Amino acid sequence: MTDAASQDGNAAQIAYWNDRAAVTWTAFQTHLDAVFAPLTAIAVKAAAPAPNEHVIDIGCGCGATVLELARRVGPSGDVLGVDVSEPMAARARERIASENLANAHVLVSDAATHDFPPGGADLLFSRFGVMFFTDPTAAFANLRRAMRPGGRLLFACWRPLADNAWFSLPLDAALALLPPQPPFDPHAPGPYAFADAERVRGILTTAGWRDPDAVRHDVPMRLSGPGERDKATEFATRVGPLARLLAEADPDLRAAACQAVATALSPHDGVDGITLQGSIWLVSARA
Ligand SMILES: C[S@@+](CC[C@H](N)C(=O)[O-])C[C@H]1O[C@@H](n2cnc3c(N)ncnc32)[C@H](O)[C@@H]1O
Repeated sequence: MTDAASQDGNAAQIAYWNDRAAVTWTAFQTHLDAVFAPLTAIAVKAAAPAPNEHVIDIGCGCGATVLELARRVGPSGDVLGVDVSEPMAARARERIASENLANAHVLVSDAATHDFPPGGADLLFSRFGVMFFTDPTAAFANLRRAMRPGGRLLFACWRPLADNAWFSLPLDAALALLPPQPPFDPHAPGPYAFADAERVRGILTTAGWRDPDAVRHDVPMRLSGPGERDKATEFATRVGPLARLLAEADPDLRAAACQAVATALSPHDGVDGITLQGSIWLVSARA
């Protein structure tokens, strides 16, 4: 393990994704899938899942991309979603059952250390599920062992916060009221851990992946429809890093911060609702 790796491996993230984050991600599943729909389409197109293929979806959460990939690979292919969150995996399984997708399965396990059958996967995919490893190099080396030679990796991760107004605008509005926060560690496990594409290429190369590449995509994030500023405010304050900060704030401060977020969103509330810029890397490589 690298110096950055803690004694506890991914224990802190596993606890987080089984507790507060699981509650919000399952509660906001429909909203999140709608907000993420444009970038999901871009990522799935780039991954190009084909009939008969064996796919692994890392950090599959509530299963939106497991469903989409399973439809694409068809009954003679299969998709295995892997996630550490029991509640989110349970939601994914419900959705698989309701679509009668016999070729999709979800496993609750730490993808960084899970003992995958070697050499069988054609495609390793993830929508925002691979930025939470304490030791990403070891995790991606482990994931590579699941791939057939030449198998492909395609995942979406967030570019820097400064290019993601849908995150930074609410965050800055709330931070102006909250006590000073500890310095931000850009490499700590979390949504922005892979914002630096050079770092990601280095991790993948060291982990044995070939031809790592990262392509920028700027994607509009439609936080709410017309007349739904309250819905956008609730979304922006309950999902992601701001949710974590506000959960720890006292109730009066939390209410004031939510009001500040609503005020910051207000100028963006147009006839189509509230849309702010999101920006991702689509990272690709070969096993
Ligand atoms: C930001 S959410 C994305 C969920 C889903 N892919 C989506 O786009 O809706 C990150 C997901 O990664 C999962 N995760 C975090 N660390 C993991 C690990 N070590 N192994 C497997 N899943 C992990 C979390 O439980 C969570 O479901």
